[in-house]
Amino acid sequence: IKITIIDREGVSHEVDAPTDMNMNIMELVRAYELAPEGTIGVCGGMAMCASCQCYVLTPEIPLPEMNPDEEAMLSEAFNVKDNSRLGCQLHLADEMEGLVVELAPEY
Ligand code: FES
Repeated sequence: IKITIIDREGVSHEVDAPTDMNMNIMELVRAYELAPEGTIGVCGGMAMCASCQCYVLTPEIPLPEMNPDEEAMLSEAFNVKDNSRLGCQLHLADEMEGLVVELAPEY
């Protein structure tokens, strides 16, 4: 599938996202080097750092419900908006074709 990631400089990148590798959005950002090493995925995808926070700009595209760990982390993170999600908790799936996410600021 194709999804679009807007990096922290505001640059938009349309990338190929495999849905058969159990990959999540945080890992996708790292694979395409869309954020500097060490500024995303700090906790290794455990929903414990919020470095992978992103804003979902395509509300029409279905995403899995938040799990309790994601909800808890986002309740304490900075720069959280109504459309915030943790990239590491969003595993790529066919239904996400056309998804657009913007990386939240680094902190
Ligand atoms: Fe730490 Fe997602 S990588 S919360």
